[in-house]
Amino acid sequence: MSRPVKFLMVSMAVAGLLTLGVQAAPSQGDVSKEINLITNAATAVVAGLQAKINAGTLPAEEADAGKLRQAFLEQFRKLANADFQQAPDPKLEEIRKAFAEAFDAVTGKYRSDMVKGGQDAFVPAFFRAQLLELFNKQANGKYQAIVTTRPSELINRDSAPDKIIADKAVLDFVAGLLDKGEVEPKSTQIGQRLVSYWPMRIAEPCATCHLRNGLEQKVGAFGGATIVVVEPKF
Ligand code: HEC
Repeated sequence: MSRPVKFLMVSMAVAGLLTLGVQAAPSQGDVSKEINLITNAATAVVAGLQAKINAGTLPAEEADAGKLRQAFLEQFRKLANADFQQAPDPKLEEIRKAFAEAFDAVTGKYRSDMVKGGQDAFVPAFFRAQLLELFNKQANGKYQAIVTTRPSELINRDSAPDKIIADKAVLDFVAGLLDKGEVEPKSTQIGQRLVSYWPMRIAEPCATCHLRNGLEQKVGAFGGATIVVVEPKF
């Protein structure tokens, strides 16, 4: 076989693999990013219902499983610019599946509370805490996500960093960033684990509701963080 022909065949094979979308396994960083993104998408669904929940006017059909799941997929598409149902590899597919199940379970459990409604009857933070608790259980120690903020801005002490982060090294890393009110994402390797800090900012609806709950914050300011720990073998 002549060299140009051989070269052409190799190039075609490479191009073929590329179009098949063959990809490297996701890194710990990819997994962390995905977990944070899905958490934000799911929370945005409940945040979007707050006006109706608070007013007690959420129609039952807007809280049904199919509608909420649809809203979740739409939020994911908005944030990720990708289709939730087309995971790029089996690992991310497993994570998405675990989140989708946790989403259905938590919204199912609190559906009647959402429809009944009332002032702050089902706030995004409460939903997120339940969602992550289920997700973490599913993940069986391979990855873990929690949401917390600096002690001076806690509405509920149950979400205090030292209450929900058992590992001293992780707590030290996170507490330093929280205390500074760091608004840029940060990651560090602790042993072989990847620990990531994904900060949030206060938007108008956050500030209004938090003020109602006794916490004064400025729009645009630091507003807590999602902490994601990914083990080396996930
Ligand atoms: C409708 C009311 C409401 C809205 C809107 C709201 N929050 Fe909260 N938030 C709460 C309440 C109430 C708590 C305390 C929940 C609890 O009992 O644990 C809380 C807790 C938190 C916490 C503590 C950790 C946690 O998740 O438990 C963070 C961080 C937080 N909110 C960030 C935000 C941000 C950022 C926004 C806007 C993007 C927001 N919240 C919007 C009511 C609200």
